[in-house]
Amino acid sequence: MDAFLTDRETAPLTIRPRRLRRTASLRRLVRETRLDPAQLVLPVFVRTGANVRIPISSMPGVAQTSIDEMLRDASAAAESGVGGVILFGIPDTKDEEGTGAWDEYGAVQQGIRALKREFPELVVIADVCLCEYTSHGHCGMLRDGIVDNDATLPLLARAALSHAQAGADIVAPSDMMDGRVAAIRVGLDAAGHQDTAILSYAAKYASAFYGPFREAAESTPKTGDRRSHQMDPANGDEALREVALDIDEGADAILVKPAGPYLDIVRRVKDTTGYPVAAYQVSGEYAMLQAAAERGWLDGDRAMMESLIGIRRAGADFILTYFATTAARLIRRGWE
Ligand code: PBG
Repeated sequence: MDAFLTDRETAPLTIRPRRLRRTASLRRLVRETRLDPAQLVLPVFVRTGANVRIPISSMPGVAQTSIDEMLRDASAAAESGVGGVILFGIPDTKDEEGTGAWDEYGAVQQGIRALKREFPELVVIADVCLCEYTSHGHCGMLRDGIVDNDATLPLLARAALSHAQAGADIVAPSDMMDGRVAAIRVGLDAAGHQDTAILSYAAKYASAFYGPFREAAESTPKTGDRRSHQMDPANGDEALREVALDIDEGADAILVKPAGPYLDIVRRVKDTTGYPVAAYQVSGEYAMLQAAAERGWLDGDRAMMESLIGIRRAGADFILTYFATTAARLIRRGWE
């Protein structure tokens, strides 16, 4: 120990990492990861009607909106360079099968058409799941209280087809049924929608961080939970198997969700597949940061930007985040 200290005192300090941190220009020059507004996707919650904007209490700044109001939000997003939007629907009525999920005149289908008409440059992604549309709040058909995997597949394929027909660029199944990517791919191709891409929520964990979303989407299961199909937070190797299956079935891009607590999964998926990888910074991650910022416990802007750059650094090519427009604006104004 003494010898070490003596060496340090006498030897010249030739390697000084601080040299390249000295000025903003130097830091900019050697920065490894960048965040571009085009890599951000804004989730929106649409319902029918006009002039409707219902704030979601656990997600300050986020609301359920009718299509006209959603278009205002999309316009702000597009103006700040946000890459895309992902739509979730709140149907007027729900039933056992979730038939609203493939209603040609459903809020999502109408929203997709309106978005493609008004903002053709925005990538339009449609979330594919039944939980917002079923009376019981589960992601598929129930049989004896269990989500019936194989009976759910054709329903998901039907929902995805209705999104493709409305003009979605990408459909994103978030249900975690086995075999749904293949079912959706076959259904889309048979109807001539070979060019609609599939972003698979391949590694979606049974997470407590979806709490605020379920308020936003009115999709809390009436009984039980989603642990029979969403992944165990303790598992990483299994995520890679899920991802491999979905790629085999025809997924074009992979999504990991949530983002923050699963950055190791983002990195492993990127390294093993080389596929485009997205990460979803979910409602609970957003709510935590907003709540702390509101109380003055964190600098909201800095914590937001750090959380996003961390997700990019872990290997995500693009990020689904409720901060999309806010972050894009900051980036446009020269934030670093
Ligand atoms: C299912 C779905 C969920 C989320 C996105 N798609 C909720 C769930 O699995 O219960 C959560 C997103 C978020 O928390 O922001 N349709």
